[in-house]
Amino acid sequence: MQAIVLHKVGDADNLKIEKDEDPKPKKDEILIKHTAIGVNFFDVCFRKGQYAISKMPAILGMEACGLVEAVGDGVTNFKIGERVAYATGGIGAYAEKRAINQHHVVIPPKELTDVQIAGTLFKGLMAHALLHRVYISKRAKKILIHAAAGGVGHLLCQWAKFLGLEVIGTVGSENKIAFARENGCNHVINYKTQKLVDEVAKITNYEGVGLVYDSVGKDTLEKSLECLWPMGMCVSFGESSGNTEKLDLNQMVANSLYITRPTLALYKANRIELTISADEVFAAVMQGILKPKITTYAFKDVAKAHHDLESRNTMGSLVLTV
Ligand SMILES: NC(=O)c1ccc[n+]([C@@H]2O[C@H](COP(=O)([O-])OP(=O)(O)OC[C@H]3O[C@@H](n4cnc5c(N)ncnc54)[C@H](OP(=O)(O)O)[C@@H]3O)[C@@H](O)[C@H]2O)c1
Repeated sequence: MQAIVLHKVGDADNLKIEKDEDPKPKKDEILIKHTAIGVNFFDVCFRKGQYAISKMPAILGMEACGLVEAVGDGVTNFKIGERVAYATGGIGAYAEKRAINQHHVVIPPKELTDVQIAGTLFKGLMAHALLHRVYISKRAKKILIHAAAGGVGHLLCQWAKFLGLEVIGTVGSENKIAFARENGCNHVINYKTQKLVDEVAKITNYEGVGLVYDSVGKDTLEKSLECLWPMGMCVSFGESSGNTEKLDLNQMVANSLYITRPTLALYKANRIELTISADEVFAAVMQGILKPKITTYAFKDVAKAHHDLESRNTMGSLVLTV
């Protein structure tokens, strides 16, 4: 098979397409021949060395859709030729084939295409965890979502809107504003040209928001806390602008704020929770609650996909077609 291999952390060009042995499924593993592979900012963070990789050379990638090619001992619920997908088994998806433990594998509905599945599962599960598990989002009424035109961001806005929340979204360029509005943002702030805290104060009549979803990290986290009303919740779930430096808890005293740092892998580690959540994400797409915007790249163009994502030139999800 062909695999996209990273020998050294660094630029997108460090991702090299190489020949590799086909993996052999061990006990409880399923060998999947990928048809579509999701590209996530997580992959960029690993590639740059922002998040540590336990073993090099590495094959990055968190999610894919494909067909079962073989199964190891102990696999009885998946059949050869069946279409499956996964998003919670750790890195290893950037290859034509992967053997992965059946614990992480779900069966998507036939109504969705392979590209829709690979463009929605990881990000949709994150949006599901954020809105339905981490905190009772409805309680907040007014919420702030950073990177509202991004992969997770656009699905999060769409679902939050469906839940009846008033959504303030942020974007880093003017050309993303219309898209953020289409995703259900009642208000959009360009945090590169406007003062985030002042704008949120104006929009909320100086009350603030009850909940912030912050995936940007370094550039926004302190300001996010300033946007909250008393006892408000900050959910910090990513660091697209860089790792957040030390947080001064004293900044949270005056308004008695909450902060949490959830990870998808832990929230969806339980098999029943994973399958229920995946079903709810796919159902939300079929019902039109989630309308994933997906840009496809050929497998060989992975470096371009990384470059575009890292340069903040993309909107919605990115998928490699195999
Ligand atoms: N905790 C978890 O388990 C988990 C799971 C999934 C995703 N995540 C995190 O969620 C975030 C979103 O992931 P995604 O795949 O959907 O990516 P994305 O939001 O599509 O892309 C990242 C976005 O971040 C914004 N950004 C702000 N400052 C940036 C900078 N200095 N460099 C690059 N981008 C910057 C850009 O939007 P603007 O140009 O509009 O600012 C960019 O489009 C990532 O941080 C990811 O690691 C975490």
